[in-house]
Amino acid sequence: AFMLEASEIGVLEQRVRETLGIDNCIVVPGNSDTQDWVKQEMGKRCAQLLEGMLHPNYTVAVTGGTTMAALAAAMPPIHTAENVMFVPARGGIGEQVENEANTICAAMAKRARSQYRLLYVPDPIGEESYQTIIEEPSVKEVLSIINRSNVVIHGIGDAMTMAKRRRTPAPLVAKIKSGVAVSEAFGYYFDAEGNVVHRVRTVGLQLEDLDKAEHVIAIAGGASKARAIASYFKLGQNNILVTDEAAANQLIKGY
Ligand code: G3H
Repeated sequence: AFMLEASEIGVLEQRVRETLGIDNCIVVPGNSDTQDWVKQEMGKRCAQLLEGMLHPNYTVAVTGGTTMAALAAAMPPIHTAENVMFVPARGGIGEQVENEANTICAAMAKRARSQYRLLYVPDPIGEESYQTIIEEPSVKEVLSIINRSNVVIHGIGDAMTMAKRRRTPAPLVAKIKSGVAVSEAFGYYFDAEGNVVHRVRTVGLQLEDLDKAEHVIAIAGGASKARAIASYFKLGQNNILVTDEAAANQLIKGY
């Protein structure tokens, strides 16, 4: 494939902004479904965007996933702000360790030469344990940092792809299916209109908390995620999308 001209990318970005009704969109050339370097490119652009947003003492909450891992790998040392802290947005949501928010958070902070705190909670967690664990002082402390996050950065997944990857128990898969979930982000599953179909019970950032963050950035690409991206943005909580050409083209067409 040949590279798009900067002006063509600019047009794509503008059309995605209009389609989703958001202020900020970055599109990188290619399709991350089939080309690994595209995720790396999205990661690089997202890292630059983040650098420009940081102020001293800012807290950045991050989720897991392979796209977020690409962002972590592209993170440069932060010179623009002192005392930045990275935290995982939520506790475990069924991912393997390399895709977990804790893993991504530590990797990202290390590259940024920043501090980080992690959340150690069992995954998944029952109601009774949940109530107990959020009272644990060490957990409470990290949770209060998470709840004050200035920036939230997260991936978006296709609902069924994510349910399978996380080896979700059959009754929950049935719930996700019957609710016609289309997208998944930070352990929440959403239908085509952006309604919550299911949420993984864990500690950390809840949907309501997104309101309080100054910037909420979604990073997701690949033609296969266009429907998921459109569904997730119906929530109206995010204003920034970092994506790729393939997802952008599908989004504009209405997939
Ligand atoms: O919540 C969405 C997933 O974390 C996305 O994962 O970046 O590996 O597709 P991915």
